[in-house]
This record gives sequence, C-alpha cells and structure tokens, in this order.
Amino acid sequence: MTQDELKQQVAKSALEYIKGLSIIGVGTGSTVNFFIDMLADYKADIEGAVSSSDATSELLKKIGIPVLELNDVGDIEVYVDGADEVDPRKKLIKGGGGALTREKIIAAASKKFVCIVDSSKCVDVLGKFPLPVEVIPMSRSYVAREMVKLGGQPVWRENYITDNGCEILDVHNLEITNPMELERTINDVTGVLTVGLFSHRAADVVLVGNGDKVDVM
Ligand code: A5P
Repeated sequence: MTQDELKQQVAKSALEYIKGLSIIGVGTGSTVNFFIDMLADYKADIEGAVSSSDATSELLKKIGIPVLELNDVGDIEVYVDGADEVDPRKKLIKGGGGALTREKIIAAASKKFVCIVDSSKCVDVLGKFPLPVEVIPMSRSYVAREMVKLGGQPVWRENYITDNGCEILDVHNLEITNPMELERTINDVTGVLTVGLFSHRAADVVLVGNGDKVDVM
C-alpha cells in the first residue's frame, strides 16, 4: 500500500468511533483530510463539528457539516486527529501542519482522543520529528535561545503565520526521553503559546494503519 492508502485505511477505521455521535472534534492534516472525505456519507447524523484549523473548517463546510464553536458545545465525546510521531505510551508530537494550539485545546476538551496514523509515525522515543513550538512573534528569538539551552536546534518556520497570528519554531535534535517534563519546561518559557508535545494529554486510542490491518494501541 502507498502511504496515502495507509492513511485512507486508518481514516476509515476511525468512523467506528463516531457512530451515533452528533458532535465531534476534527483535527488537521492529510490523514484527517481522508477522514473528512469519508464523513460526507455520515453527515446526516452529524449536527456539527468543532474544527482545529481554518483549513479543516473549510473542508467541513464544503461537505455540508456545520462548524461549531467550542465555547458553544461543552465537552466533546470524541476528537479524531493525526500526529507526526507516536510513542508506545500514546504520547505524541503534533503541529507539523501548524495547528497545534487549537488541536491541543480540542484534545483537552474531549473525552476521547482517537489518533489516526500510518505505521511510519510510530517511534520508540519522540524527537526525530522536529518539535513544533508556537510562539508570540516578539518572543521568537528569546524562545529560540531557550530551546538551544535545552539542547535543541530551533529553526524558524519562515513566512508562516498560524491561524492564531503567531509563529512557529521547529526544534530539531531533541531526544525526548521524558516528554512529561519537557512539555512542562517548554510551556513555562515566556512567549511560548503551545508546544506540540501531547504528553500530559496523550491520545486515548491510537489507530495505526499497517496495510494488512489496523492496529489498535
Ligand atoms: C497538524 O498541525 C498536525 O498536528 C497534524 O495532525 C499532523 O502533522 C499529522 O499530519 P498528517 O496526517 O498530514 O501527517
């Protein structure tokens, strides 16, 4: 199977988790885009979705699913989203697509976070994928220096502004052996809006598309 076919395979398996729900949370990225395509057949049951990015909102609206404000819906039963890396404890790196802040908010407000990935995303130790850190623009250089102190090599995602009007540093060369502590440490750096480590709020279920089958972690 090609990587896109693996993404389609795992996206399809997530439909099982949204059966009977009228409101769901929807993440961002190429894997979730396949999931959104498949939602077209379910839209009669779905009253609306809380979206993690402007790009996802557009796709949802295109297939006729109303986009709801998180402030208007309370807790969400199920949030479906992809990830850039997944470790065996279901802790994640996210934000390759730049939507990490809204993704983290929706994950926090959801009872069940169903993460959908193809097998290339599974690692033993997080950190090969550069860790995205969303920063308030005026703090970018300061935060970058703090990331160097932590042993990382920050690279400014130039000419990129998030949906929140902020900027992103992609921090390379971190071997994240203690994701809980690193998430806390980076959260504490002044000027950081969000770090793309999903460790305190990890996934509840990870579906991994392998080709032969979908593994459930
Ligand atoms: C978006 O900001 C990310 O967190 C995505 O969920 C993640 O990058 C996975 O994207 P793909 O499905 O495109 O690999």
